[in-house]
Amino acid sequence: MSNTAPILSISHLSKTYASGFSALKDVSLDIQKGEIFALLGPNGAGKTTLISIICGIVNGTGGHVLVGGHDNVKDYRAARAQIGLVPQELTTDAFETVWATTSFSRGLFGKTANPALIEKILKDLSLWDKKDSKIRTLSGGMKRRVMIAKALSHEPQILFLDEPSAGVDVQLREHMWQTVRALRDTGVTIILTTHYIEEAEEMADRVGVINHGQLVLVEEKRVLMQKLGKKQLTLQLREPVSALPESLAPFNLQIGAGGKDLTYTYDTKGEHSGITTLLDALREQGIMFKDLNTTQSSLEDIFVGLVGSAQ
Ligand SMILES: Nc1ncnc2c1ncn2[C@@H]1O[C@H](COP(=O)(O)OP(=O)(O)O)[C@@H](O)[C@H]1O
Ligand SMILES: [Mg+2]
Repeated sequence: MSNTAPILSISHLSKTYASGFSALKDVSLDIQKGEIFALLGPNGAGKTTLISIICGIVNGTGGHVLVGGHDNVKDYRAARAQIGLVPQELTTDAFETVWATTSFSRGLFGKTANPALIEKILKDLSLWDKKDSKIRTLSGGMKRRVMIAKALSHEPQILFLDEPSAGVDVQLREHMWQTVRALRDTGVTIILTTHYIEEAEEMADRVGVINHGQLVLVEEKRVLMQKLGKKQLTLQLREPVSALPESLAPFNLQIGAGGKDLTYTYDTKGEHSGITTLLDALREQGIMFKDLNTTQSSLEDIFVGLVGSAQ
């Protein structure tokens, strides 16, 4: 990671809502230019609150934020000009055309009209052939892309995507990720929130885990996945077992209730899952199974793991 000043610097940020609810607790985080950073956490963790404070929509109750070196309160306009925000809730004017709404957004930031740029943005987002369509006639995935186009219209340095995959089908999601990566390649810093660990895994260079308003972990994705990317394979046995032969000891299998199933835990990022070897070893021992399935450790499990290890 470079030693240059971070493009976004969050220091000791906290937020207590008027209700008295403490939604953010002393969050500090630096983001470098050109990163894709995923803020991962369950619903209610404080992700949208954090983004809303950075963007100046909600006031923090403690701490401060620098966007490209500009304080987001004292120097709001300069800070906000660096940011493109795609909010969690789609809010577009249904009766506007794609072209009009995107061009208008640029104007809101006091930037002079730049039709060539708007054209490029719409083309990059595969929206060009819809430029004259009214937004209400578009599919959910297209509407989401219009929101991205609007957010990019004033050439921000940082793009926030709050739960970008919500309501977007798998195929479009893949397309959207390609678009996001291409944007990053042009130097835009991307910060996305998600409650899907798979999404963070797919996209991010670095992941921050937030829970109950606290940033409990910030880690390079690669390292995080090594720590947390465990998968379990469960085999439903034909005949129950009460004990396992010595030759199976290296697999650390867990025998389920009544000896009817065996569970094997492996590292999804390891070079070898060991599954083939395990199945061979079981066959040699004459242990037959009638079904098998895999489960990935959920975010919930991960939080339990994190909270557990911190105590
Ligand atoms: N305006 C508000 N007043 C009081 N509590 C709020 C308000 N907005 C959000 N919260 C609460 O703050 C917590 C964090 O919400 P949010 O930032 O939206 O979480 P996330 O985006 O991670 O799902 C939730 O418990 C939510 O109910
Ligand atoms: Mg949210």
